[in-house]
Amino acid sequence: MTEPLETELYLSSEKDELFEKGPWPKPFAFNAEVVKVFDNMVSRSVPLYREVVAATVHWTRAYYQPKTRIIDVGCSTGTFLELLGRFLKQPAILVGIDNSQDMLDKAREKLTQVQQIHQIELICESAENISFENSSVVVMNYTLQFLSLPQRQKLLRKIYQGLVAGGLLFLSEKVRSSCPQFQETITNHYEAFKTRNGYAQNEIERKKEALENVLVPLTEAQQLQMLNDSGFKQVESLVKFHNFVSFVSLKLG
Ligand SMILES: C[S@@+](CC[C@H](N)C(=O)[O-])C[C@H]1O[C@@H](n2cnc3c(N)ncnc32)[C@H](O)[C@@H]1O
Repeated sequence: MTEPLETELYLSSEKDELFEKGPWPKPFAFNAEVVKVFDNMVSRSVPLYREVVAATVHWTRAYYQPKTRIIDVGCSTGTFLELLGRFLKQPAILVGIDNSQDMLDKAREKLTQVQQIHQIELICESAENISFENSSVVVMNYTLQFLSLPQRQKLLRKIYQGLVAGGLLFLSEKVRSSCPQFQETITNHYEAFKTRNGYAQNEIERKKEALENVLVPLTEAQQLQMLNDSGFKQVESLVKFHNFVSFVSLKLG
């Protein structure tokens, strides 16, 4: 359990130049063009992305209960499931949910090796329509933020109900500050991060516009309340870096 993880991620995509060259998706959607550049986009746009995926593997291994399922909601191209598959010693049932078939087609390719050890189920469906019964770990990294507020609450309740006792939800989200002044400073810092990762100012602006009303961040306090209202009474903010937070939530036995 304590051996170091070789956390090199299997990222494979074209360079993200979508908002430089176009035609870019407006409003933003996970369409085929986005899928082509997704791995590059996510790793250049989410601070601490690699560390969060590695932490998710660490927590999944710690809370996985044999004969239960591990479910990744919004699994995209399968990066987390692939890393997990390499490090989970015993064969397990790994389920990836995404409502984009293009994402799942890439995930299927990426998971070819780990499929020799684990049972992989990739389901193209909206997360609200999924059963979480008999799962001991549910991962939902940077996905809940794309659902409407009533859908978010409903989905979290469903996850809580489906998890076995002692089961874990690992949730990562973009968040915003309730203080406009802080929010401005946070946004400036985030845009500087994207600039350092090679995005030009016009790309940053265009993507921000495209994401308006598509990705609607809550404050950390609102997110904690929603988790609490869904049944999770043991919640910890595990990783926080400006406007991105990862929470671990336990279903008590
Ligand atoms: C930002 S990506 C998630 C990144 C991924 N979890 C990772 O860590 O690399 C959001 C994903 O959620 C999917 N998605 C958005 N809304 C969804 C929904 N209602 N049900 C299932 N998947 C959804 C998108 O297709 C996309 O692949």
